[in-house]
Amino acid sequence: MDFKTLEDYWFVLCESKDVKQKPSSFKLLDKPVVVYRNGQGEALAFIDKCPHRNIPVSEGQIVNGNLQCPFHGWEFNHEGTCVKVPGLMADKQVKAAKLKKFQVREQAGYIWICLKASSDKKPHLPAHLNDDSLVTTSYRTHLKCGSLDIAENFLDPFHTPFVHAGIIRTESKRFRNQIKPFHIESGLEVQYTKDKPQSGFISLFGREVDRDLGRFLMPGIIELEYYSKDKIEFVNTMYITPRSQTESSIYFKASLRPTLIPPSLIYAIAGFAIKVALKQDRVILEKQTNVVSKNGGAAFCHTELDIVRKQLENLYAGNGLQVEFKALEAMI
Ligand code: FES
Ligand SMILES: [Fe+2]
Repeated sequence: MDFKTLEDYWFVLCESKDVKQKPSSFKLLDKPVVVYRNGQGEALAFIDKCPHRNIPVSEGQIVNGNLQCPFHGWEFNHEGTCVKVPGLMADKQVKAAKLKKFQVREQAGYIWICLKASSDKKPHLPAHLNDDSLVTTSYRTHLKCGSLDIAENFLDPFHTPFVHAGIIRTESKRFRNQIKPFHIESGLEVQYTKDKPQSGFISLFGREVDRDLGRFLMPGIIELEYYSKDKIEFVNTMYITPRSQTESSIYFKASLRPTLIPPSLIYAIAGFAIKVALKQDRVILEKQTNVVSKNGGAAFCHTELDIVRKQLENLYAGNGLQVEFKALEAMI
């Protein structure tokens, strides 16, 4: 995946609660990023690489409101400008040295950053976050695999009766699905309409899910929505953060329509199922990455069920959707 084409998009770097006044380090698109809060609580992000001898400045400390490198003590202000070089005479201070500063936004409980100095794009808000009829909770996980494989996996229902047997679907309870893929702005959407309600934990608490859809939005946002009789029952929003070509994080929000059962009890059960399912995905995707990296790259074959792979490759490459979508029927 060419990370250059992704640099003007906004990504979730971490959760808001991860960022304190002490500097911490995260990777995004193969770049090290240091992030901390200034005295006003505002999050600031810079390249985590001192311009002097390239030490991670995240291992330094905040001194007089400046970020101090741990090697020779250079200090960088809130704009990333070097304002002090210890030992250098006052009239010779190096004002030109700079830490590259990144744009930061804080919303929906996450720290978002964009690596480009200016971008006309915006961070994506979960579609159902302000829907008071839903109760939302958050999870996160880290995987040793690339973002494209994760995106494909979340939009692929055909692995669920095997990898998530009994949790998301059951092999012995496959039903006919009408599958309709669509192009949408900045991504794609696939709708699944079923003959019978879906099996798995989604059917718990009296829910009858007979339609669901998977949506992908650049630069790696997945929304999975489950409906019964046109009422939304459950939404998963996943933000995929590419750390490197073979490492990613997923920041995950689950929103559920409460029933008579208290949401806290539902999430105690559903949360367990979600964590198990995320672990199952991590295990299978890391196996795939291992085999691909040890065998000279991917050599995939496809059937008409693998509807999104080529489309995702085109979207991530910045080429838009170039392959025609076809509606189809399948047993899921
Ligand atoms: S490497 Fe940072 S001050 Fe020298
Ligand atoms: Fe999965």
